[in-house]
Amino acid sequence: MKRLNWGMIGGGEGSQIGPAHRLGAQADGNFRLAAGALDADAAKGKAYAERLGIAGDRAYGDWRGMLAAEAARGEDSLDLVTVATPNSTHFEITKAFLEAGFNVLCEKPMTMSVEEGEEIVQVAKASGKICAVNYCYSAYPMVREMRARVAAGEIGKVRLIVTNFSHGHHGDAADADNPRVRWRYDPAMAGVSGQFADCGIHALHMASFIAGDEVEKLSADFASTISSRELEDDAMVNFRMSGGAIGRLWTSSVAIGRQHGFDIQVFGETGGFRWASEQPNQVLYTPVGKRTQIMEKGEAGLSDDAQRLSRVAIAHPEGFPLAVANIYVDLAASIRGDAAGALPSAEDGLRSMAAVYAAVRSAGANGAWVDARPPMFR
Ligand code: NAI
Repeated sequence: MKRLNWGMIGGGEGSQIGPAHRLGAQADGNFRLAAGALDADAAKGKAYAERLGIAGDRAYGDWRGMLAAEAARGEDSLDLVTVATPNSTHFEITKAFLEAGFNVLCEKPMTMSVEEGEEIVQVAKASGKICAVNYCYSAYPMVREMRARVAAGEIGKVRLIVTNFSHGHHGDAADADNPRVRWRYDPAMAGVSGQFADCGIHALHMASFIAGDEVEKLSADFASTISSRELEDDAMVNFRMSGGAIGRLWTSSVAIGRQHGFDIQVFGETGGFRWASEQPNQVLYTPVGKRTQIMEKGEAGLSDDAQRLSRVAIAHPEGFPLAVANIYVDLAASIRGDAAGALPSAEDGLRSMAAVYAAVRSAGANGAWVDARPPMFR
């Protein structure tokens, strides 16, 4: 099958998420890196693009030049563009590429405001193009397994979801001025929320993804434990879902000793599941009144979705870049018109933004319960 042409904006040399996209997109032979505007520094971006094998005339200094030149190409123009730049640029770039008729995978958070999020949803709808958001944890095979089992009623109605995305990598006050750390707590660069918008929304998206329900309202407690920070570095968020489930979410960047620290437990009427990103190939399943069982990626009897997204045999690890690769597997299927799995959509990106603004409002009002739904979905 012909490889699809893929372009990247951001994700330049030394960036955090760029390599995971390049490994992921090219892991299954679906995409080839055909064009890119990879860096805020035009010369660096072009040089790096050429080192990655992009042809000189498609190694761009900035995304506007890339948009104009790629839109003018015929047959071999881009099938997909990934936006992996800092948050404040997502809206403008994603909107422009959708309007020009490109499919887009945007990094999270999709936008800086609810209004921008609603606009992206509308632009994507009008364009008829794919606009996906990189909630890549939802693409781990064993997360898909848990989701399939919840949907099949294996633990009955979901009563309670408890999830954490807490690490300790910004816990050193002496390092708080490090430029790679500081911007995340600077409203001009990060937006209205620090840790909740950075990591908490992955956990909130996961709760909806597993339960198959949307978050309706929430109550938040935000704290800046390092007092020089304008935005929160720790948040506790209680939420309620449309199907009646209760949610508890803790996210922190000062939890020294926790490395990645993303886990989720789903408790239903007849059992519970647990998945943790640091052991992503297992799901723990406890039927009521019975012992806990460990389900392993690659074992017999898993759901079609979990099997489809596993590449190597049981007991061989698959990790983060291959979860990102699974997002690209479903993107390729959607672009080719085949049945795709469960792509996180622009609607998901918008719901996260609405939840971020709701959490900021709630935290500013002593944890008052507030509507967490985007106005367009109320
Ligand atoms: P980073 O700061 O490490 O890298 C950003 C890259 O974008 C740099 O190469 C920079 O030169 C380039 N860039 C900046 N402005 C640009 C522009 N206007 N045009 C072209 N390139 C530009 O940032 P990082 O950590 O890689 O984050 C990027 C995005 O990915 C953020 O929105 C972040 O929230 C998201 N992210 C998502 C993760 C996930 O699990 N889905 C994990 C880590 C980051």
